[in-house]
Amino acid sequence: MNIIELKEITKTYKRGEEDLHVLRSISLSVAEGDFVAIIGPSGSGKSTLMNTIGLLDVPTTGSYTLDGVVTENMGDNALAELRNQKIGFIFQQFNLLPRLSAMENVELPMIYAGIPRKERRERANNMLKMLGMGERGHHKPSELSGGQQQRVAIARALAISPSLILADEPTGALDSRTGEEVLELILQLNAQGNTIVLITHDHHIADNAKRVVSLKDGVIIDDYRNNIQMSAQHEVSV
Ligand SMILES: Nc1ncnc2c1ncn2[C@@H]1O[C@H](COP(=O)(O)OP(=O)(O)OP(=O)(O)O)[C@@H](O)[C@H]1O
Ligand SMILES: [Mg+2]
Repeated sequence: MNIIELKEITKTYKRGEEDLHVLRSISLSVAEGDFVAIIGPSGSGKSTLMNTIGLLDVPTTGSYTLDGVVTENMGDNALAELRNQKIGFIFQQFNLLPRLSAMENVELPMIYAGIPRKERRERANNMLKMLGMGERGHHKPSELSGGQQQRVAIARALAISPSLILADEPTGALDSRTGEEVLELILQLNAQGNTIVLITHDHHIADNAKRVVSLKDGVIIDDYRNNIQMSAQHEVSV
């Protein structure tokens, strides 16, 4: 089944008198369990496309079906609810709330999803443990390294067992070694069946995705599958 079905999506911004066509008739289907890297030059529309897929922004025209749910004509509240149920986000700058501990950050999406406190705590704890952050639950983001913060952000994204994980330059703010560790985590999550759509400027990361979609000036100009030999370590559980 396709988890993402975008049909002839456009996004146009008004800039003074002229229209800025940021997405021009994007049609894209993503199968459950796939790992898609979106690449393209700065300003080509990658984040705009990601925000559309993530229900953070609505397209100007076109239709979008997420996990079987037709999203056009849905109101803001319904969109937010669907987003909270289905999508885990990972951002370049981690986007953790600075006043909350690692544990509380991981719990946040579960609060929105209405999961009771005890279960929330337990799941947050398990997620942090799974990502090697079990000892750091009480730390504030400022007390953690970049790689550790991104692990907390990944734990937060996974806490609701999302159907889809969206990542916008998840390794962009990390040194190359830590970036490699985060890539390994993402590969493991995909090997466990999670669907991943990730924006990257890094060709090494794109080479590790199963499928690469290339954007330019708001159009998909290339779409191919990598021939990946799964290394044994990707099949180990996190
Ligand atoms: N809210 C907005 N209003 C007007 N123009 C916008 C808005 N958001 C994005 N744009 C414009 O849309 C174009 C695409 O932006 P987008 O952020 O999607 O690019 P990108 O491919 O993610 O670039 P980068 O690699 O630099 O992150 C840019 O020209 C940008 O200036
Ligand atoms: Mg961007």
